Amino acid sequence: MNRWLFILFIIKVISAGPTPVVLWHGMGDTCCMPYSLGYIKHFLEQQIPGVYVHSIRVGDNTVEDLENSYFMSPNEQVQDVCDMLVKDPKLQSGFNAIGFSQGSQFLRALVQRCGHKLPPIKNLITLGGQHQGVYGLPHCGAIQHRSCDYVRKLLNYAAYYSWVQNSLVQATYWHDPLDEKTYKKKSEFLADINNELTINQTYIDNLNSLENLVLVKFTNDSIVQPRETEWFGFYAPGQAKKLQKLQETELYLQDRLGLKKMNEAGKLVFLSLPGDHLQFTQDWFINVIIKKYLNPAAE
Ligand SMILES: *[C@@H]1O[C@H](CO)[C@@H](O)[C@H](O)[C@H]1NC(C)=O
Ligand SMILES: *[C@@H]1O[C@H](CO)[C@@H](O)[C@H](O)[C@H]1NC(C)=O
Repeated sequence: MNRWLFILFIIKVISAGPTPVVLWHGMGDTCCMPYSLGYIKHFLEQQIPGVYVHSIRVGDNTVEDLENSYFMSPNEQVQDVCDMLVKDPKLQSGFNAIGFSQGSQFLRALVQRCGHKLPPIKNLITLGGQHQGVYGLPHCGAIQHRSCDYVRKLLNYAAYYSWVQNSLVQATYWHDPLDEKTYKKKSEFLADINNELTINQTYIDNLNSLENLVLVKFTNDSIVQPRETEWFGFYAPGQAKKLQKLQETELYLQDRLGLKKMNEAGKLVFLSLPGDHLQFTQDWFINVIIKKYLNPAAE
């Protein structure tokens, strides 16, 4: 490189500032309210001076954003967010992304379906995500009540009707381990992004372009059932008691999503925290997430 170009390059690196962060909130939550992701955005701005944080809002205002987290098909949400981020000039040199709860699998879908249109996405961090779906209701796993198993069996009849798939977000990641075949055929979102029926090579390539996929599991989570879904594990097919780790699933063994390849390249990071759903301390967030992934240069 010629000397002047080299100096220009150094100036560009120095003036580039910290890597921007994109956030996607969970069900019943919003982009920006102060007691919600607005708090996280503010916290990041304090901890990483000069950082640009884009907290995703789906819809024209906060109320729509909240409603859409229940009722707008994730396929449309991901498409809208793709169009939105492509147009954000402040993300043009790349960014990190953090998903909260269901925002985790939505961001992963965004990476897989839209990654090639976006600037480089460096680290995708998912907090309490449902990567293999859910089979259960909030608090049921923790209390182990008999009626829980009854209710989830009932829900199986409803979740895969196409009108339910189109009108209730949570149905699109309902995963019935007793009937894997129906899940793979009828789940219009999760089974697709997990390459269950067919293999979309773009999904694999885009996911593998990440520097790291960081999966955070809350070991005492009472909202997400089974908790192993936060690390891409699930019930072994055909029953709903015995769990499988990601490494034991067909998804991994057949490497349908390139996760084996990522793991072998050291790009899959499994972290766990002792508390309930999304319960983390500021210290943990600073020391583990910010220092290692969001702002390592400051070390
Ligand atoms: C694979 O995914 C890409 C990105 O979403 C999409 O454009 C393409 O149509 C998909 N291919 C198939 C065969 O579904
Ligand atoms: C785990 O959850 C149970 C039931 O909600 C609670 O009693 C217990 O204190 C929790 N443990 C930890 C480590 O948070």
